[in-house]
Amino acid sequence: MTDKIALVTGAARGIGAAIAARLAADGWRVIAADRDPACPAPPGGRAAACDVADPAAIAALIDSIAATEGRLDGLVSNAGIMIRKPIAALGLDDWNRVLATNLTATFLLVRAAEPLLAAARGAVVTIASTRAHMSEPDTEAYAAAKGGLVALTHALAISLGPAIRVNAISPGWIATKGAAPRPEDHADHPAGRVGIPADIAALTAFLLGPESGFVTGAEFVVDGGMTRKMIYRE
Ligand SMILES: NC(=O)c1ccc[n+]([C@@H]2O[C@H](COP(=O)([O-])OP(=O)(O)OC[C@H]3O[C@@H](n4cnc5c(N)ncnc54)[C@H](O)[C@@H]3O)[C@@H](O)[C@H]2O)c1
Repeated sequence: MTDKIALVTGAARGIGAAIAARLAADGWRVIAADRDPACPAPPGGRAAACDVADPAAIAALIDSIAATEGRLDGLVSNAGIMIRKPIAALGLDDWNRVLATNLTATFLLVRAAEPLLAAARGAVVTIASTRAHMSEPDTEAYAAAKGGLVALTHALAISLGPAIRVNAISPGWIATKGAAPRPEDHADHPAGRVGIPADIAALTAFLLGPESGFVTGAEFVVDGGMTRKMIYRE
């Protein structure tokens, strides 16, 4: 695997950091891109400062990979933000920022990287959310962006196959920051626990690797069973 190159966005912390670490451990050379300049370089790889909401920054990032690594085998579009406000208070600037980061960035990354990915017969993984399918109040921009990302994923798979495979992972609750989940939070989940970033990293590694060659255009829900759980109060 040592000659294989992967780009992971939003890799400074949380799920993206776990994906970068897992791919590096599997032998990939990983470019960890984040708007946070303190993003650490994965072992054997490098960090790259990039705000994926900025189209010029995305173009510069892919240009730098073409110039420095000269190939790209895997792209993980993970960077994401949520702005949670009642719709009456949700400004168009808020809406545009959430869509730019969670949805438009993936379009721009894949469009710029297509020649490199096609040459390598590479794969793309997009990190969507179960919020593409279900909602709490006041999450319109995020839900719309993630729903769009799931649709963009299958559209890309059809347009870019067979050279490039494209799949989405929709995580449920993955504990990355804030207070630790409580015992009742774990117990709510059919799998018996809240998710951890390594749960998403493991599936990402499979979807970028050679054993998933017959998998494209799919969405994988990784939520401990929560979206399959029916709740009645009688
Ligand atoms: N944690 C969860 O429960 C959960 C559930 C479903 C989906 N997701 C999705 O998984 C992805 C990662 O989530 P997380 O919980 O690890 O988030 P996080 O907030 O812990 O980390 C996100 C990372 O992305 C970076 N980032 C944000 N905006 C960026 C931009 N414009 N350009 C470059 N980097 C940017 C941040 O600096 C940070 O390092 C996101 O797309 C999120 O929507 C998370």
